Amino acid sequence: MPTLFSRRTSEPDLPIIDKSRIPAHIAIIMDGNGRWAKGRHLPRLLGHRAGITSVREAVKTAGELGIKVLTLYAFSAENWTRPTTEVQALMRLLQEYVVRELPELQKKRVRLRAIGRLEALPAGAQKKLTQAIEATSQNKGLTLTLALNYGGRQEIVDACNRALTDGHTSIDEKTLSNYLYAPDCPEPDLLIRTSGEMRLSNFLLWECAYTELYVTKTYWPDFRKRHLYEAVAEYQKRERRFGGL
Ligand code: IPE
Ligand code: IPE
Ligand code: MG
Repeated sequence: MPTLFSRRTSEPDLPIIDKSRIPAHIAIIMDGNGRWAKGRHLPRLLGHRAGITSVREAVKTAGELGIKVLTLYAFSAENWTRPTTEVQALMRLLQEYVVRELPELQKKRVRLRAIGRLEALPAGAQKKLTQAIEATSQNKGLTLTLALNYGGRQEIVDACNRALTDGHTSIDEKTLSNYLYAPDCPEPDLLIRTSGEMRLSNFLLWECAYTELYVTKTYWPDFRKRHLYEAVAEYQKRERRFGGL
């Protein structure tokens, strides 16, 4: 007989998910950290910090659901325009995350990757990130891709330039795709944005041509297992047509 106490602490009712139709790749624009903090009269940095719990939970849940790739937009190419103190805090947080989380990523057999102009990240963060990527490179579980100093337009420009360097004089879709930051990665099936904003903010512009979009008003630091289940359940109600009938 469950007591009142055990009912309170048990997992809330999760939406039913069809395990045979799990999206292979989910991308998330983790937004609303600042507003989450502001609503609590806290500095913005504490919102970013609180968001780490949500990252942990999203990684865990994605692994449990059998999602192959989870791409998280952690820092955009345009986020450098924020105050230096915030940018520095975000870079410190990134470094802290990859160091602290590494044992757990290993335990869950998560393979860490990163997309973006990584060479512009501060040396310390870059080093720790590379170490974590290398340490997890043979893992066969979830692929966790962090988008860092990432911009969709920049990615397309970088792809074109690398194709030119390799001697291509004209380009088609297949060639361009092969020069993207993660060419072997399937395109996202589902893109989630938290905090209610209805825009892409330069995220995966090429890759999201036929991705299903899902926006929740929930701020990223409040995003939990249940929210990811809700997004996947909604995705499973969609009819993907890819321009056909
Ligand atoms: C998302 O939260 C985190 C990053 C962009 C790095 P924000 O910092 O954009 O939070 P809001 O949108 O100001 O609430
Ligand atoms: C997008 O959020 C970038 C990340 C979540 C890392 P922003 O908060 O930077 O986007 P805008 O400025 O509201 O479009
Ligand atoms: Mg924002």
